[in-house]
Amino acid sequence: MRRTFLKLCLAAPLALALPMSRCTESIPEHDTTVLILGGGVAGIIAARTLHERGIDRFLIVEARDELGGRMRSTQFGAEDRRATVELGANWIQGTQVSGGPANPILTLARKHGLETVENDFYAPIATYDETGAMDYLAVIDKAIDAYTNLTVVGGGRVSTKQVDMTSRTGYSLIGVKPNTPQEMVAEYYVFDWQYAQTPEQTSWIASSWANNFTYDIDQGGFSDEDLFSIEQRGFKHLIQAEAQTFLRPGQTLLNVTVRSIAHSNDGVVVTLANGATISADYAITTFSLGVLQNDDVLFEPALPIWKQEAIQSMTMATYTKIFLQFEDKFWFDTQIALYADRERGRYPVWQSLDLEGFLPGSGIIFATVTGDYSERIESLSDAQVQTELLDVLATMFPNTTIPAPTAFFFPRWFSDPLYRGSYSNWPASFVSPHHTNLRANVGKRLWFSGEATSQRYFGFLHGAYFEGVDAGERVASCVLGKSCKSLPFVERVSNANPYIV
Ligand SMILES: Cc1cc2nc3c(=O)[nH]c(=O)nc-3n(C[C@H](O)[C@H](O)[C@H](O)COP(=O)(O)OP(=O)(O)OC[C@H]3O[C@@H](n4cnc5c(N)ncnc54)[C@H](O)[C@@H]3O)c2cc1C
Ligand SMILES: *[C@@H]1O[C@H](CO)[C@@H](O)[C@H](O)[C@H]1NC(C)=O
Ligand SMILES: *[C@@H]1O[C@H](CO)[C@@H](O)[C@H](O)[C@H]1NC(C)=O
Ligand SMILES: *[C@@H]1O[C@H](CO)[C@@H](O)[C@H](O)[C@H]1NC(C)=O
Ligand SMILES: *[C@@H]1O[C@H](CO)[C@@H](O)[C@H](O)[C@H]1NC(C)=O
Repeated sequence: MRRTFLKLCLAAPLALALPMSRCTESIPEHDTTVLILGGGVAGIIAARTLHERGIDRFLIVEARDELGGRMRSTQFGAEDRRATVELGANWIQGTQVSGGPANPILTLARKHGLETVENDFYAPIATYDETGAMDYLAVIDKAIDAYTNLTVVGGGRVSTKQVDMTSRTGYSLIGVKPNTPQEMVAEYYVFDWQYAQTPEQTSWIASSWANNFTYDIDQGGFSDEDLFSIEQRGFKHLIQAEAQTFLRPGQTLLNVTVRSIAHSNDGVVVTLANGATISADYAITTFSLGVLQNDDVLFEPALPIWKQEAIQSMTMATYTKIFLQFEDKFWFDTQIALYADRERGRYPVWQSLDLEGFLPGSGIIFATVTGDYSERIESLSDAQVQTELLDVLATMFPNTTIPAPTAFFFPRWFSDPLYRGSYSNWPASFVSPHHTNLRANVGKRLWFSGEATSQRYFGFLHGAYFEGVDAGERVASCVLGKSCKSLPFVERVSNANPYIV
């Protein structure tokens, strides 16, 4: 471990009171007090929390050239017709009802003057199938109803302590068995489009409470409203502007990639891609679950088995938006359209930005795919994916000659070593003690934060926010020498009813 000597002695207000001999002693001091690894919502809010507790000796280390993490936007479109579009997070999900709790992302959006539009998922939408335009709105209404039933019956399992199962099992048990392309796309819209994985891949119980705690005001949720950012400084502006309210020069290292984290009872030493090291009393890692799962960052010593098991048993899902720009708009006038293919999950959801109140005249439309389908298209070339999308558009609009797009782009979240997916999802085999372990610190020096560590709001921006506050508070208590309490962990996660083979 690299140590800097004497500094503490000179810098400490008590230095003058100390006998001289103490000042020449080798008092070890680290380069900084708290290293915040990752400059997304969790990292920035953890930093702000430390600042509010009077701790300004921290360093945010971020691999990209800007703060914001998965709040990421880009300029999209032909040179003379560019607009800012969101590659990552796009919605404030659950806002506030009068007198109720506010989604903290909404509070930041208001504070920093973000431009948003209400995006009603259940407002009129256009529907298509393999024959072109086709009205199956009644099928969608039924799927919405079925989803509500799924969360209600799933909640019953919590109260009776019944074992978790997949959401597919849940749907089947409540008698909902989609078969037709229309039924499948309707289910996709209410389920996969939120969790970025299929009902088969998703916990019945956890998906129900995740929905409730965000959207259901009777269960402590914010509201059932979704606000879509059309902010041309990017949705990320809300967190970047918030960072500017308290960050001082020298507290952020951009373009700096962490390779490994050595941790011990004395502190942490982080080794960077360029070989340099930074030492600290504490580290808060906010890297995505996918990054932790893929050993993109190594721990020395290796993390304890209970921690590794937790990391490897939650899932990193992928949500992919594919943007197309055309000279002229030839599509629907609603915000959203669905396309029912025989193959479930094949380019099912389409959103128009060329719309009054959004980005009129932009010529931009985008499709979303998720889960395994995202992984599939990331392995194809851009040209191949573009051809598939144009084929689908030709199917949706049989009487239109689909012109060549003037721009095409999609991000590859799953292959990106800084993310390895878009957000976490809770599978049925992941039980509460696993999540306790995912969240727990390892020793007193190494702490974990980020959307995935949020039990109630995993996957969401507000999950990352609340976890940033929590990690900041806990580490602040340690730094200030008040009470440095470890989070609980479970040494061995076991079955209530062991297998009998
Ligand atoms: C496509 C997509 C759509 C989404 N849609 C929504 C939405 O509409 N609403 C919503 O609420 N949420 C949405 N989310 C989820 C939301 O974006 C995340 O929950 C949230 O941004 C996570 O914040 P975080 O701080 O936990 O992690 P991150 O934002 O991932 O922060 C971690 C940071 O660590 C950095 N990093 C990684 N590895 C290294 C390394 N080795 N060295 C240094 N730095 C490193 C990364 O660059 C990143 O900046 C979406 C996410 C995606 C990807
Ligand atoms: C980070 O890298 C980018 C691109 O390589 C560069 O433009 C930018 O100035 C760098 N920023 C910092 C803070 O080093
Ligand atoms: C949802 O549950 C209600 C009440 O049990 C039932 O009447 C309705 O048919 C169910 N809807 C679906 C789509 O399963
Ligand atoms: C979700 O909310 C519904 C409706 O309020 C409730 O019946 C159900 O028990 C809740 N589910 C969970 C898992 O909290
Ligand atoms: C497409 O053209 C066919 C044949 O001319 C016609 O029958 C059909 O109604 C048209 N469909 C639409 C959506 O305009």
